[in-house]
Amino acid sequence: NVNGAKAGRSRNIIEKMDETGKNCVIFYGSQTGTAEDYASRLAKEGKSRFGLETMVADLEEYDFDNLDAMPSDKIVMFILATYGEGEPTDNAVEFYEFITGDDVSFSEGTDPGLQNLNYVAFGLGNNTYEHYNSMVRNVDKALQKLGAHRIGKAGEGDDGAGTMEEDFLAWKDPMWAALAEKMGLEEREAVYEPTFGIVDRENLTVDSPEVNLGEPNKMHLEGTAKGPFNSHNPYIAPIAESRELFSAKDRNCIHMDVDISGSNLSYQTGDHIAIWPTNSGDEVDRFLDIIGLKEKRNNVISVKALEPTAKVPFPTPTTYDAIVRYHLEICAPVSRQFVATLAAFAPNDEVKAEMARLGSDKDYFHSKTGPHFYNIARLLDTVGKGEKWTNIPFSAFIEGLNKLQPRYYSISSSSVVQPKKISITAVIESQMIPARKDPFRGVATNYLFALKQKQNGDPNPSPFGKTYALNGPRNKFDGIHVPVHVRHSNFKLPSDPGKPVIMVGPGTGVAPFRGFIQERAKQAQDGATVGRTLLFFGCRKRSEDFLYESEWEEYKKALGDSLEIVTAFSRESSKKVYVQHRLKERSKEVGELLSQKAYFYVCGDAAHMAREVNTVLAQIIAESRGVSEAKGEEIVKNMRAANQYQEDVWS
Ligand code: 2AM
Repeated sequence: NVNGAKAGRSRNIIEKMDETGKNCVIFYGSQTGTAEDYASRLAKEGKSRFGLETMVADLEEYDFDNLDAMPSDKIVMFILATYGEGEPTDNAVEFYEFITGDDVSFSEGTDPGLQNLNYVAFGLGNNTYEHYNSMVRNVDKALQKLGAHRIGKAGEGDDGAGTMEEDFLAWKDPMWAALAEKMGLEEREAVYEPTFGIVDRENLTVDSPEVNLGEPNKMHLEGTAKGPFNSHNPYIAPIAESRELFSAKDRNCIHMDVDISGSNLSYQTGDHIAIWPTNSGDEVDRFLDIIGLKEKRNNVISVKALEPTAKVPFPTPTTYDAIVRYHLEICAPVSRQFVATLAAFAPNDEVKAEMARLGSDKDYFHSKTGPHFYNIARLLDTVGKGEKWTNIPFSAFIEGLNKLQPRYYSISSSSVVQPKKISITAVIESQMIPARKDPFRGVATNYLFALKQKQNGDPNPSPFGKTYALNGPRNKFDGIHVPVHVRHSNFKLPSDPGKPVIMVGPGTGVAPFRGFIQERAKQAQDGATVGRTLLFFGCRKRSEDFLYESEWEEYKKALGDSLEIVTAFSRESSKKVYVQHRLKERSKEVGELLSQKAYFYVCGDAAHMAREVNTVLAQIIAESRGVSEAKGEEIVKNMRAANQYQEDVWS
C-alpha cells in the first residue's frame, strides 16, 4: 500500500478522528479528482456553516472493519464516483468489496453491524453508461442492509447530462438541513476561514534548487524520478514525432508518438494514455492579472495546511505562477458555489451584490455565464468590470478550483508493433463562441498542439496567432517532453487472430482501431491466419478529415481483402450519412460475422453515436435471427457481458 501503510500512519479512522478532534469524515472514491474536490467542498462548508469539525479521507487509506464502532454522534459521508462499466474507482475497490461482500464482519462483531452509523451519500455517474451511479446505489443498499442510518437522500450527479455540478448543489442543501436537524446543529453566518496559509520565502528565488516549478512531485524536482509511473507519478516522456493529420478551418488533428523507451512503462493495444497538461500561457496571465498577482507571480512561497487533516495538493516551496500554470484547473467552466464564496471579496458593493445573485440564482447564473463559456478569470473580469480582485485570499483558489487533472486518450498504436512508442490521435478543440471575441479552447489538446508546433520548430506556436507559453521561468520539461502514464483497459482484440472483428469508430473514435489493424497486419505478416477485419469509419468529407487514409492502404498489403474500411462521409451531400447507416446497409454480412462469433467494438461519442450503433446492431441481430427487436437488444447485452461487444466511449 503506497499511502497509509507506507507513511506509517494509522489506518484506524476512529482513532484518527479522536486524535484530531473531528466529528465528521468525508470519504471519497475518486478517479479523476471530481469526487475528491466535492468532498473537500463539503468539508469546508460543514465547517463554515455548521461548525462541524470535518476531515476529508481517501478510501484507500483506511480500514473499514471498525465502522461498527463509529460513535453515533459522528457523521460519515461517502462521495463515490462510478467508473467505466459500473466499477468502483481504483481507490475504492477494497472498501466496495468489503462493504458489499456476503460475509462482512466487523471488529465489534455486532449484528447486523452498523446501527450506530449515521451517513450521507452522493454519487457521481454518467447516464450514458449502462450502470448509472451503481457505486453509490450499491454502497447505499449495503449500508442500509447493515443497519446504518442515512441522513437525507442518496444524491446522484449526472455527467452525461452535463448537470453534475447542479445535481450536487441541489442535493446538498436539503442534506445539510436534514443533517442539522438530526444532529442538532445550529447554522451560523458562514465566515470564510482559509484552509491554507501562504508564507513568503524571500530568501529563495526561482533559481533556488528546492523551488518546485511545475514538477509533479519531489522526485522529479530532485531528478530522481523512477517508476512505477502512475496517476501519482508521471513519466516525463520525449516526443518522438508529431505531425498534423488534417487541418481545417475550425479544427485540426494531430498524431503524436510518445517515446517510453527510457522508462519501464508498458502498454497493451487498446489501453489509454494519460497526458498531464499545462494551462495555456494566455489564461495563466489573465488569471494572475485579475487577482492582482501578476507582479508577484515569480515570488517564492510556501503553502502550509492550517489544519492537520488538510493536504497541500502540490509540492512547495513554489511560485504563484507554477501553482496556476500546472496545478489548478483555471480554464474549466466556473462553479456557481465558488462564485457565491467569492462574493465576500468583491472589489465593491455593486459587484458583491451581482456575485451573490449569480451564486444563488441558478437560472440567472446559467443565462449570464453559459453562452460565454466563462472560466474563473473571465467571469471575475466581466462581473468586476475590469477592477482587480485583490482581496481574495489565495487559499480560496486552492480550495475552490479543481486540481488540474490528466486527460486520457485511447492509444492509437499496437503494443506488438511499437512496444516503446505510444501513438496519440487527437482533434484540437477550439470552439467559436458567438458571445465573445475569441474561441474556447480545450486545455490538453491545445497543449499537445503547442508541443507539436514547438517540436517541429514552427515559429508560430499556434495557428490561432497567439503565443502559447509552455514553460515557467525554469522548467525541465523543455517543451518537447510530455508527462504521461498508462491506464490499462479491457478494450482488447480477441486472443485468436482468426476471429473476425467489426469495429465502429467515427472521427478520433478510430484511434484504438488503428492500433488493432496495425496489430492484425503484423500478425498476418508473421504468418497467422487473420479473420475478417471490418472498420466502419465516419468523418465529414473524404478530402477534409479522413484519418490515416493512406495508412489503410499499407495494412491492406498484409491483410489483403480481409481488411475493409467502410466509410460514411457526413458532409458530402445534403443527407447525413453516418456509420450506423453503413452498418445497416451491411446487415447481411454483419449478421453472418456475428454468428461466427465476431467481436464487435465501438469507440467515440457515447451520447449519440454509440447509442445509435447499439440500436442498429440489435436490429441487425433481430433481423438475421428472426427474433424480436427486444430479443435482439437482450442478445447485445449478453454479448457485452461476454466481452464480445466492447465499448471505449466518452462524452
Ligand atoms: P457531422 O459532424 O457531419 O454531423 C466524426 O465526428 C463524424 O461523426 C462526423 O462525420 C460527424 O458528422 C459524425 N456524427 C455526428 N453525430 C453522429 C451520430 N449521432 N452518429 C454517428 N455519427 C455522427
